[in-house]
Amino acid sequence: MKVLITAGPTREPLDPVRYLTNRSSGKMGYALAQAFADAGHQVLLVSGPSQLDVPPGVDFLPIETADEMHQAVARHLPRMEAAVFAAAVADYRPATVAGQKIKKAGETLTLELVRTPDILGEARDKMGFDGILVGFAAETENLEANARDKLGRKRCDLIVANDVSKPDIGFDSDRNELLLVFPEHTVALPEDEKHHLARHVVKEIELLAAGRKS
Ligand code: CTP
Repeated sequence: MKVLITAGPTREPLDPVRYLTNRSSGKMGYALAQAFADAGHQVLLVSGPSQLDVPPGVDFLPIETADEMHQAVARHLPRMEAAVFAAAVADYRPATVAGQKIKKAGETLTLELVRTPDILGEARDKMGFDGILVGFAAETENLEANARDKLGRKRCDLIVANDVSKPDIGFDSDRNELLLVFPEHTVALPEDEKHHLARHVVKEIELLAAGRKS
């Protein structure tokens, strides 16, 4: 199947030398891109800045800001059969981008931030996507309840949830522990390498796609 994956952080400029970003290595999204490609699927990886190598056989579309990711997804989503939103998108960006480096002045500095588009939230209603829709949830408390709430609000088929308060797994790590939250049930994937977890998630998405066709 044709699958779009978003991955990595976004980077929201403040001036020519500064930006706001999210803590994300891109490892889970890139592992998913590789697992889908290894399983014979056609993958478009829309990624914010990451140090990782693009997996072989994956089409790559690099972006920087949430607005750029939004535009890329809106353009390519209509021809996809599945979409997995693993990116850590900045929810806010600076209201204005200074043309020159902001110089020090005064003891405090207040930034005005404005909301970025909720790309996952727009997929169903605004973009009219009717393929398999998978979102991610990074939570520090009430993991399953928050993920289940997101599943309904964003009209997803699956939310891949992880507890980012756990030390040693998640951010920057090669390992993670996931909770797969479906409308009718939940599957816990115990701690493992992100590459192994990615293969498992791909199988679950293949089952969802097969169920949709039958
Ligand atoms: N996401 C997105 N566009 C954004 C923000 C998030 O596509 N501007 C996607 C992420 O890629 C991920 C999911 O939405 O799949 C994460 O959701 P989150 O931002 O936690 O959603 P909310 O529940 O709206 O956020 P909050 O926890 O702040 O309520």
